[in-house]
Amino acid sequence: MKAFTSFLLLTFGVLACTAKYYHEPNAPKLHITLYYEALCPYCMAFVTNQLSPSMVLKDRLHYTNLTLVPYGNAKLDDKGELTCQHGEDECELNAWHACILEHNDINISLKLIACMMRGRKNNLDKCAKRYHIDVTAVKDCKSSRSVDNILKKYGEATAEVDFSGVPAIAVDDEYNADDQEDLMAIFDHTFCAKYKAKFNITLNNC
Ligand SMILES: *[C@@H]1O[C@H](CO)[C@@H](O)[C@H](O)[C@H]1NC(C)=O
Ligand SMILES: *[C@@H]1O[C@H](CO)[C@@H](O)[C@H](O)[C@H]1NC(C)=O
Ligand SMILES: *[C@@H]1O[C@H](CO)[C@@H](O)[C@H](O)[C@H]1NC(C)=O
Repeated sequence: MKAFTSFLLLTFGVLACTAKYYHEPNAPKLHITLYYEALCPYCMAFVTNQLSPSMVLKDRLHYTNLTLVPYGNAKLDDKGELTCQHGEDECELNAWHACILEHNDINISLKLIACMMRGRKNNLDKCAKRYHIDVTAVKDCKSSRSVDNILKKYGEATAEVDFSGVPAIAVDDEYNADDQEDLMAIFDHTFCAKYKAKFNITLNNC
């Protein structure tokens, strides 16, 4: 009886693992772009409570071309200096995120960035240790360049989109103000609906 129970547990364990890691080969990817800044409370809540659980735990990342744009309401002032909505700390953190994105693929980047956004200070070392990620290149990026230089391309990407506040999400390369409330409040559900609408495919656990 005990052996049989172990057998059942093992079987279900294996099935559960297989289910977790099974991917439709060549599944189409829905483009999602998140415009955000490191220290806005709604951005922190969205990334940690909505985006990361959907992408990582529910495995939507495999079905997504996800782009993170860590710039938000940062602006170049009259003197050409970068100022961020939540001060210099935020410019620094945005630049750390940018260096993470530059030197890791999106799944690793998202894990690190979500981990960092659970706190308000730079937790890169703690987060890298937790996920066993080598961040040497990230640190070289941040120490060898100015924040303005690191964030330049994100400033340009942000300038192209007319959103009113962050976080802001573009789906299929389009920002639609009417979608924002659902994307913020029930991201995974909304992602599933958009995916179905575009590709006529219902993803697992939707
Ligand atoms: C990250 O995602 C890519 C594309 O989905 C995949 O090929 C790669 O194996 C993933 N890497 C890790 C470490 O999970
Ligand atoms: C991912 O999306 C970005 C922006 O929407 C695009 O420039 C890039 O080519 C896409 N990558 C793939 C592999 O589709
Ligand atoms: C969507 O997929 C279903 C089931 O695969 C199919 O029956 C239906 O014709 C498809 N609809 C469109 C608009 O392609």
